Amino acid sequence: MGHTLDLSRFQAKGTETCFHGKHINPQIYAGLNGGNWSLKDYEARGGYAALRKILGKDGGEGMTPDAVIADVKLSALRGRGGAGFPTGLKWSFMPRQFPGQKYLVCNSDEGEPGTCKDRDILMYNPHAVIEGMAIAAYAMGITVGYNYIHGEIFEVYERFEAALEEARAAGYLGPNIMGSSFSFQLHGHHGFGAYICGEETALLESLEGKKGQPRFKPPFPASYGLYGKPTTINNTETFAAVPWIIRNGGQAYLDVGKPNNGGTKIFSVVGDVNAPGNFEIPMGTPFSKLLELAGGVKGGALKAVIPGGSSAPVLPAHIMMDITMDYDAIAKAGSMLGSGAVIVMNDTRCMVKSLLRLSYFYQHESCGQCTPCREGTGWLWRMVDRIEKGQGRMEDLELLNSVADNIQGRTICALGDAAAMPVRAMIKHFRDEFVHHIEHKTCVVPAYV
Ligand SMILES: Cc1cc2nc3c(=O)[nH]c(=O)nc-3n(C[C@H](O)[C@H](O)[C@H](O)COP(=O)(O)O)c2cc1C
Ligand code: SF4
Repeated sequence: MGHTLDLSRFQAKGTETCFHGKHINPQIYAGLNGGNWSLKDYEARGGYAALRKILGKDGGEGMTPDAVIADVKLSALRGRGGAGFPTGLKWSFMPRQFPGQKYLVCNSDEGEPGTCKDRDILMYNPHAVIEGMAIAAYAMGITVGYNYIHGEIFEVYERFEAALEEARAAGYLGPNIMGSSFSFQLHGHHGFGAYICGEETALLESLEGKKGQPRFKPPFPASYGLYGKPTTINNTETFAAVPWIIRNGGQAYLDVGKPNNGGTKIFSVVGDVNAPGNFEIPMGTPFSKLLELAGGVKGGALKAVIPGGSSAPVLPAHIMMDITMDYDAIAKAGSMLGSGAVIVMNDTRCMVKSLLRLSYFYQHESCGQCTPCREGTGWLWRMVDRIEKGQGRMEDLELLNSVADNIQGRTICALGDAAAMPVRAMIKHFRDEFVHHIEHKTCVVPAYV
């Protein structure tokens, strides 16, 4: 590596968030201790056996690309980047017979507030991502891939580069992998911390060296992606799940979770809990169990939870304590599993102030291409700000909802929706707090009065 930035001022104590032995049936975190990220350790854990299996280098017959995609479909693996799109289905969209270059891209931008899982995967199990990408490339007939890594935590990028060097030297990447006819070149690339570069088409623009602004869709990346070529993009955790699926079979992965929600998921539990961290648990685990793993609520009773990163609508405690952690259950309750960041809030938290913080984030991160998002996110923020300062009017509540309505579904990318949804959910579930701020010019929560 030619250059290393001094990032010591960003490093808080206890940044290793996944070494606590409280995972349930872990697949990605199984056997990790913080020091065993290297190739020989990964191989000792069964690493690269899945790649050997599909290439027929384990004494078996190998798997056809169609068989790999069918197994991933059977597993009910859903994209871990936010939308939960079925991974096998996405892979089947790749026009494999396209004669020119096709690309595979890993989205390790991880900017969603509260989320801190992909950085741990890349730091402590980088070869799982490399092997998962190699399998995906084989399945889709792709020969070149990139991993776009959140550049603000530079050691994560450096660790991935070191793992890439090991994989190349061992013949797991490069031309004619393990003597087969399959070739795959994989490269690391670091961004500079813009949240919008996590949106897949903005990421592609940024990877091409341009300003990271989302593209109109359609065309989708499967037909017009990196450099205008067919491209498949998946999240880091999605790729890291693939080797386990191929080694153990799609049915075994499905059985770990629940129908339509296969396998395990890493949840970043943050906020008012005694033991924040990443927890890998089967899909369908009750939220109450996850909260228990994170040491329970700190500093008060449970008031609310944002179950899937800052873009997901907030849910009050009584709803959360009744649901399981999977895409379908959380959607049914009116929110999203999203990136899996579980932001826990106790009853000393002011919801007006919380919304103010969220609204500030989205108006700051809007790329400014579309008017409803560029202007609307600023309006939302300024309106919540005046309510929080005791200068709000009762009609502001309807105005907030109306501005949110005029952003949602009217923008190029989903950042607009992500800014609008929290506003509506906060007002729906915690209207009394907003009314109190307007009527009494103070906060209903004693800590903030
Ligand atoms: C504003 C915005 C930010 C996003 N940030 C990320 C991110 O940091 N990491 C990620 O994997 N997906 C992110 N996404 C979702 C990606 O666009 C894309 O859906 C995802 O990478 C696909 O991978 P998956 O199918 O494996 O989930 C973001 C989407 C939006 C709209
Ligand atoms: S919705 Fe917002 S972030 Fe997305 S393209 Fe439009 S202005 Fe940019």
